[in-house]
Amino acid sequence: MFADPSSRSAQLYERACKVMVSGNTRATVFSSPYQIYAASALGCRIYDIDGVERIDFQNNYSVLIHGHAHPAIVESVEEQLGKGFCYGLASESEISLAELLCSPVPSFECIRFVNSGTEAVITAIRAARAYTGRPKIAKIEGGYNGAYDFVDISIRSAPHDWSDGSNAPTGVPESRGIPDCVLSNVVVIPFNDPVTAVRILEQHKEELAAVVVDPLPPRVGLIPATREFLEALRDFTQSSGSVLIYDEIVSFRLGYQGAQVELGVEPDLTTIGKFVGGGFPFGAVAGKKEVMAVFDLRGAGAPLIWHGGTFNANPITMSAGLTTMQMLTPEAFMRLASLGQQARERITEEFRAAGIPGQATGLGSLFRIHFTDRRFTNYGDFYPLPVEKKRMEWLVRYFLNHGILVSNIALGAISTVMGEAEIQQLVDTLSAALQEMKREHTMET
Ligand SMILES: Cc1ncc(COP(=O)(O)O)c(C=O)c1O
Repeated sequence: MFADPSSRSAQLYERACKVMVSGNTRATVFSSPYQIYAASALGCRIYDIDGVERIDFQNNYSVLIHGHAHPAIVESVEEQLGKGFCYGLASESEISLAELLCSPVPSFECIRFVNSGTEAVITAIRAARAYTGRPKIAKIEGGYNGAYDFVDISIRSAPHDWSDGSNAPTGVPESRGIPDCVLSNVVVIPFNDPVTAVRILEQHKEELAAVVVDPLPPRVGLIPATREFLEALRDFTQSSGSVLIYDEIVSFRLGYQGAQVELGVEPDLTTIGKFVGGGFPFGAVAGKKEVMAVFDLRGAGAPLIWHGGTFNANPITMSAGLTTMQMLTPEAFMRLASLGQQARERITEEFRAAGIPGQATGLGSLFRIHFTDRRFTNYGDFYPLPVEKKRMEWLVRYFLNHGILVSNIALGAISTVMGEAEIQQLVDTLSAALQEMKREHTMET
């Protein structure tokens, strides 16, 4: 049972705290009073060092689309390991993965590999700045785009920072030490409010290099961008000469063509990451050749951006990614989407049956659980009340103690090794949690 001071995880955590601040190097896996340590994982199950087994709906924040240690990925990585881990030369595997990723997505005219989602976002923003010669970027309120100063703004902004339609949202630095020169070069726009967003953007149009938007932002409630919003951003960027960047690091899970084809509006650049690397560190920027030409090394003189990276396109990630993507046939994506829909519908039904406000949002294989019936389309409507947040945190912990792992924002990602039995277990556990919540009357405020 979490939290147990005599557990091996608690002991390890104590050891970790002696050499790492808060015993941790990754805020997203931190939990109090200690972190749970994994021992191993296979398929859709993960085992901690105290021997507790859980169904893994977290899948390392959506990375593991084929679950843990999938034999085909293990085989491709083992084969590559025998041929060398990384080279100071290019390898054919990067061409194969690039071809496979670019061919189905019209806006992916070419691609550049890096090693994380954060790096992909940094690289896309650098490309947009070099291409336009302008300094500013715009991002959506509530959107998370990685650990980088220029996007570490207004991720958790509170009601008094929001736009009321007549003013722009206040840019709120998430971390201390972000210089004013960064803040003054970031424009915050409200999600799914095309009129206000464009009005704000117009005020900065001469200086804007890029508008960065996640078409299915997990931290804005995992609700999709409306076509109207994306079209407004597309029209603005086209007419003002700035670059439209989609952060599809999570939403690319919707299918081979990501969210952009499903939502019907094409960006100039897209960042991808997470599952595409098959569980190995991965990120990429893909997009229009005209913009990506800023990295071109072939002309006379220096390129606009000289972009290196010791582990970029490393053959281990490339082979794991290639095998991962090859297994993701249209049928596999359809099956994932159908399981996702089943999960979302059944979760929402459980809340109704229990008489507790709640629902699941999401698309494709992704779901997020909320303790409210409110229909939301923007950050303001989504923003959880303290009681909703408290209930969500209680549920995540209940899941943890009853064999289910989801992320700490109750975000889940279904993998291809899951089936209806795992969805059933998720729904049954939710049902038991809601009954306990009602019995205990602990969550009233
Ligand atoms: C939408 C989005 N963009 C960017 C990132 C950053 O990716 P990474 O953690 O691989 O640096 C994340 C990570 O969760 C994300 O969800």
